[in-house]
Amino acid sequence: MLRAWGDRGRRDEAKSVEVTPARLAGTLKAVFFIFASLCAWYSGYLLAELIPDVPLSSAVYSIRSISERPVLRAPAPKRQKCDHWTPCPPNTYAYRLLSGGGRDKYAKICFEDDVLIGEKTGNVARGINIAIVNYVTGKVLAAQYFDMYEGADNSGPMTNFIQSAPSKSLLFMVTHDDGSSRLKEDAKKAIEALGSKEIRNMRFRSSWVFLGAKGFELPAGIQREKVNHSDNAKNRYSGWPAEIQVEGCIPKGPS
Ligand SMILES: *[C@@H]1O[C@H](CO)[C@@H](O)[C@H](O)[C@H]1NC(C)=O
Repeated sequence: MLRAWGDRGRRDEAKSVEVTPARLAGTLKAVFFIFASLCAWYSGYLLAELIPDVPLSSAVYSIRSISERPVLRAPAPKRQKCDHWTPCPPNTYAYRLLSGGGRDKYAKICFEDDVLIGEKTGNVARGINIAIVNYVTGKVLAAQYFDMYEGADNSGPMTNFIQSAPSKSLLFMVTHDDGSSRLKEDAKKAIEALGSKEIRNMRFRSSWVFLGAKGFELPAGIQREKVNHSDNAKNRYSGWPAEIQVEGCIPKGPS
């Protein structure tokens, strides 16, 4: 009897789950694993909720833009007519006159962003280069060069050309190389009549630019004329002074 009980008791003992340290550790591991999985799932869920709905590409872009150093860029300056720094006010004509530099840097006349005389238009040459523009309409009437260094007498034809300009004309003049050697009195008078103060001071290879007005007065403030004389001690090009230029905005007349 006792034995039997004892036997059964031993058998029961054997059947019941023994809580050994190894088993306890295993159970804890399993619980921890489940808990960790839940945490991971929940944090993933939270992240998904928190991250705004943006396409992946832009997310990648914004990550990249964070890693890039911020660069401050000024907006590209807008190019102004005749390469002015600032635009001319409304109701004005933009102009820029540039004399030649030495033999190889060509003179240029720009009016309202059109090159009237220049290397690109192929109508620039040694001597005095002249463009005539209708002051009222802004239309170009004529553009021509007159060699003042050698060849035929070009001073007479140049005088005729200047005098043929109708009243209310703008006359733009620039020298290239030399504009004085064969310049005659009549031409000087005609140019003086347009407002020039320097034409009589011109010397061999002087750089000269001039804006003349026929039949009306230009406002006093605008740049009209500049000259730079050849001086072997100071010349930028051997034998020629630096090129010279004027620019500005001519108020339009009543149309
Ligand atoms: C005239 O030319 C010289 C060089 O030839 C230059 O140093 C000087 O600045 C020029 N003058 C003007 C007013 O541009």
